[in-house]
Amino acid sequence: MNIVLIGGSIREGSYNQALLRFVGRHLRLIGHEADEILLREYPMPFMDEDYEREYGLPNHAKVLRHKINMADALIIASPEYNGSFSGVLKNAIDWVSRPGDTDDPPAAIFKDKKVGFMSASPGGYGGQRGLAQIRYLFEAIHAAPIQEDFSLANAYQFIDGEGNWIDEQPLKEIEQFVKQLLQD
Ligand SMILES: Cc1cc2nc3c(=O)[nH]c(=O)nc-3n(C[C@H](O)[C@H](O)[C@H](O)COP(=O)(O)O)c2cc1C
Repeated sequence: MNIVLIGGSIREGSYNQALLRFVGRHLRLIGHEADEILLREYPMPFMDEDYEREYGLPNHAKVLRHKINMADALIIASPEYNGSFSGVLKNAIDWVSRPGDTDDPPAAIFKDKKVGFMSASPGGYGGQRGLAQIRYLFEAIHAAPIQEDFSLANAYQFIDGEGNWIDEQPLKEIEQFVKQLLQD
């Protein structure tokens, strides 16, 4: 399968990006394609319908839109900010939901797209409120979220300040999460 991994944090040393790096490596090891998207490398303006009317989609949104369109499944790992997922991620989703120069209806690239959600947080709840919100969003755009999320609480116990794993205990559970995505 061709799986696109999108991180909702643009921070160096991000816990959420560390989750995705492990997932990407694991997927490749078991014979799948995994494309890890760092939104830091895809800067785009805030969603703005005036900009859209004048210029169409920003180039980075076009590239991301194409990658999502071609993917068999998506895995998204976002931090929880104030009880929701990150604004950087929401902005990117809003842009790529637009048809651009295609005849697609809005959000068509997400229709029936299999998607799994992950979140890591230094806090004790592992970003679970953000996970509920992102599921709500993907249901609204008619994607096909898998049943289970993966959430890592107290992430600093497992990942250091540079995004390296210092305790591999959660990795088996992450492999199970990936297995579920591949099977569903
Ligand atoms: C604006 C802001 C709001 C935050 N709100 C929450 C929150 O509601 N719940 C939570 O668990 N952590 C919250 N945090 C802490 C983040 O979980 C923490 O910064 C985390 O490391 C971000 O993910 P990253 O490591 O992938 O960048 C917040 C951080 C910021 C900057």
